[in-house]
Amino acid sequence: MRLLLIGAPGAGKGTQAKRLAARFGIAHISSGDLLRQHVRDNSSLGQLAAAYVEKGDLVPDGVVMDMLRKPVTAATRGYVLDGFPRTVEQAEASYAVVRTLGVEVQAAIHLDVPQPELVHRLLSRGRGADDTEAVIDHRLSVYQERTVPLLEYYAGREWMFTVDGARPAEVVHEDIVQRIQKLATFTAPN
Ligand code: AP5
Ligand code: MG
Repeated sequence: MRLLLIGAPGAGKGTQAKRLAARFGIAHISSGDLLRQHVRDNSSLGQLAAAYVEKGDLVPDGVVMDMLRKPVTAATRGYVLDGFPRTVEQAEASYAVVRTLGVEVQAAIHLDVPQPELVHRLLSRGRGADDTEAVIDHRLSVYQERTVPLLEYYAGREWMFTVDGARPAEVVHEDIVQRIQKLATFTAPN
């Protein structure tokens, strides 16, 4: 099973990815978690990415793609991608790679949450440098400018759906599972 989670900062991508990974026995691959780990390790990739992550700007595509190639190809039982792709450019570039490997995504899940709830969640979490009011504001505008066009690009594909992410995490999880199980990509005979 190969899934993508798309949603604004604080929409619950990490929360839902973790549950889906446990439920289906697939790998949870979070671009943000991997970037933060590189920053903590002070690796060369981390040194390059740190300033972008702290400011809430997108890390250059090539850096993110290089970082994800290994975990994605290693996830032979499937994966749930959390935070990637985040732009139309990333979607197009990664599609070219995964298609040749035969590991295209089977479902893209958009978590929809109203902005005041996003801000409230992020301020109460306070993850680090990028959970201050000013940086949250910037992350939300980057989402509007760079990721909302990705939703428009995927709109109308039968394997893409939106769920109301403002409900309790468990309710959102069960909704996602039901929606996935209805998709032709999972139910069609081979
Ligand atoms: P990333 O780590 O992906 O951050 P983000 O998109 O800003 O989202 P968050 O991780 O803050 O939120 P989430 O949607 O995972 O929600 P969560 O489950 O934590 O990216 C960070 C940075 O890395 C980017 O700014 C960029 O610099 C860089 N980056 C990452 N990917 C990149 C890419 N592809 N290209 C370029 N750069 C990239 O939940 C949030 C809070 O809400 C938690 O406290 C949680 O407990 C709570 N919560 C969750 N669900 C619910 C619920 N249903 N009800 C109530 N509370 C809930
Ligand atoms: Mg996250």
